[in-house]
Amino acid sequence: MRLLLEMRADAHRLPEVFRFSGKVETMATSFSVPQRILHWLMAALIIFNLLVTDAMEDYARVFFGGQTPTPEQVSAANIHAYVGITILVLAVIRLCLRVIQGVPPEPKEEPPFLSLVAKLSHWAFYVLFFVMPFAGIGAYYFGNKTAAFAHAGPMKMLMWGLIVAHVLGALVHQFYWKTDVVKRMTSGVR
Ligand code: HEM
Ligand code: HEM
Repeated sequence: MRLLLEMRADAHRLPEVFRFSGKVETMATSFSVPQRILHWLMAALIIFNLLVTDAMEDYARVFFGGQTPTPEQVSAANIHAYVGITILVLAVIRLCLRVIQGVPPEPKEEPPFLSLVAKLSHWAFYVLFFVMPFAGIGAYYFGNKTAAFAHAGPMKMLMWGLIVAHVLGALVHQFYWKTDVVKRMTSGVR
């Protein structure tokens, strides 16, 4: 099979159209609607779990202090656990969609070094989407102190750091480079 990616002669008019092994394919200019819905739904759930932690922290203090949490404390802590497990399930679906549907190409206004940084940070997010809930499960359901430390310390810090850098990156795209990067994750680029 010929694996040469050859541009069409009229590519200057239709830059998104490529010929791949004789088959004409259209390169996506936006994330698909399901990918966009998952992005914002997961962002909301992650922010919730990063900010609403009191009940889970109370539970952990009692449990790791060697006492038995009350049923009320368990119910309250369960909200954090169930939201976190939902994030994990959505991450599986999102990763499958990413593999099947791909992502739009990096914008040409972005310097190559920053494109690489963006790519690495997106993959770091994906690693956290899996590792963070699993560490939480290790702490909550198996009483593992190391997992609790990793979850509530380095993983939490890394998640916050990535989110701050990510939002700054989106703002730079929107207002400095004036690209349509934010549009490809919101209304879509037409
Ligand atoms: C991506 C999803 C999740 C995020 C963003 C998240 C975030 C957090 C945050 C910010 C804290 C408080 C850390 C602190 O300042 O002390 C925390 C604590 C905790 N979370 Fe999660 N969590 C997630 C998923 C889960 C899951 C799925 C479980 C369990 C089923 C879980 C169990 C715990 C436990 C047991 C603690 C207390 C740890 C301790 O203080 O020792 N988390 N989580
Ligand atoms: C907890 C919060 C967030 C997380 C975990 C997150 C995560 C991600 C990830 C992993 C991607 C890569 C696309 C993919 O493979 O699915 C992405 C793309 C994107 N995010 Fe977020 N995001 C968050 C919040 C935000 C916010 C608040 C904004 C807006 C300011 C934003 C704007 C974007 C944009 C515009 C893209 C597309 C980038 C591109 O086209 O290369 N995100 N986000």
